[in-house]
Amino acid sequence: MFFADIHTHALFGVDDGAKTEKDMLAMVKAEYEDGTRLMCLTPHFHPGYYGDNRAAVRSAFETLLHYAEDELPDLELCLGNELHYSQDCVSWLRNGDCKTINGTRYVLVDFSHNEEERVIVRGTEELLNAGYRPILAHVERYNALRRRNPLLARLRDNGALLQINTQTLVGEWGFGMRNRCMRLLEDGLVSFVASDCHDMKNRGPGLSKAYEMIVKKIDKGYANALCMNNAAEIVHADTDGKDTD
Ligand SMILES: [Fe+2]
Repeated sequence: MFFADIHTHALFGVDDGAKTEKDMLAMVKAEYEDGTRLMCLTPHFHPGYYGDNRAAVRSAFETLLHYAEDELPDLELCLGNELHYSQDCVSWLRNGDCKTINGTRYVLVDFSHNEEERVIVRGTEELLNAGYRPILAHVERYNALRRRNPLLARLRDNGALLQINTQTLVGEWGFGMRNRCMRLLEDGLVSFVASDCHDMKNRGPGLSKAYEMIVKKIDKGYANALCMNNAAEIVHADTDGKDTD
């Protein structure tokens, strides 16, 4: 059994995640010790906030690959981005500035937590129409989509995929957020649980707590899909973006 985490901010010096190389290695080691054997590094792609961080991303990823090769040889690492939605995002993807998950058609995309429903729907459809498979990052956070599971089901049926965060599911962001996660899981709408780890203190790595909770409260098969199999499947999809549900 191993976990696969498709949303992490462990690369150092590129966004609001790990600050130093030491921080990065501590986070990756903690993920590994928690049972993760496949990890996608997804620094924020948001030129307005983080500028052009592409060279720093490449350099931090090379450092991490060298470390893992020696210390954690059975940890698979790949690269992506967490794309903050903007009207320009399809061109950023097409010209390669923004990375899809491991070079597939799957794109981790986030919106501001107070974004209007119509912007989230339009943005998701733009990505779908451009041939990508958007993965809505921490979908539980979008206030406009609260109690909108039928709308989320429609987006899912059209090809979007939904991701929730470990911390919100296990209740570290309060009961309201936890309940939102549970309703999404109970309706079978979610495809991925991910750590969205940023540091070792407040937004730490690891999926085991969420996994155990889903096994206990919902179903082991669904827990396996959410924390392992679905992520492994998309990371290893070909560049045409083989379907996964
Ligand atoms: Fe994130």
